[in-house]
Amino acid sequence: MVLLDLREATGLPISLTEGGRLICDEGVKCEEVSERTPEQVKPFLLDPNSVPDGGALYVMHRDVYAREHREELLRAGLRYDITCIRPGILGEEHVKTVGHYHPRKPGSDVTYPELYEVVCGQAIFLLQKPGGGAGDRIVRFIAVWAQTGDKVVVPPGFGHVTVNPGDTWLVLANWVARGFSSLYDEFRSLRGAAYYCLAGEPPALRKNDLYAAVPAPERLVGTQLWGLDLSPDRPIYTQFLESSERFRFLTRPEEVHWED
Ligand SMILES: [Fe+2]
Repeated sequence: MVLLDLREATGLPISLTEGGRLICDEGVKCEEVSERTPEQVKPFLLDPNSVPDGGALYVMHRDVYAREHREELLRAGLRYDITCIRPGILGEEHVKTVGHYHPRKPGSDVTYPELYEVVCGQAIFLLQKPGGGAGDRIVRFIAVWAQTGDKVVVPPGFGHVTVNPGDTWLVLANWVARGFSSLYDEFRSLRGAAYYCLAGEPPALRKNDLYAAVPAPERLVGTQLWGLDLSPDRPIYTQFLESSERFRFLTRPEEVHWED
């Protein structure tokens, strides 16, 4: 059953269904759909025994596009994805993605960034920058409270987790460089990010004791574009069609001066 028409919010004729899967109208293609089951998320939780049975916690739709835009996406070397995260609590934590880092761009010393958009719902983006070693020493930790329409760039060097603190589905869109694989090992071995986001009003951040060194979290609210030339108002899919040049920072992060 269709829960929500996402055409206006994304710029694509797609809808969200009850189980977190998208329905794409004719002319829109999604190359790959995969789910994260409670069992798969278990190793990344504060309390791994808290996982309920049941359906997917989130559904990832990779490489979504209108057929007439395919060539342009490939030319730009970019991929557009949609992730639908269910509301709920796992032990003390809000439902979240497992978290990952991006690899370095070959031939450079910067990792690939990513651009997120909250299509609907509420999100807390947890961004963490390791200072080398086994990944258990974090030099910067940023929690961004975001809601429908907000855009958040994950800058080079940061790993990221997305939390759904709301009581409705959180739908996220993202643009990212094609063809690299995310790195999950650090988040798995350290059982999540350097802070857990605990349910409550407001949600609280609790330090993850498996990390050796963690700074106090910086708290930010709303769109975070780090000085990039993007509109905070229009859907990121539409903006790509208007000016793919503005998305070059995703494939050429080494050419950008990244603001603090
Ligand atoms: Fe990512």
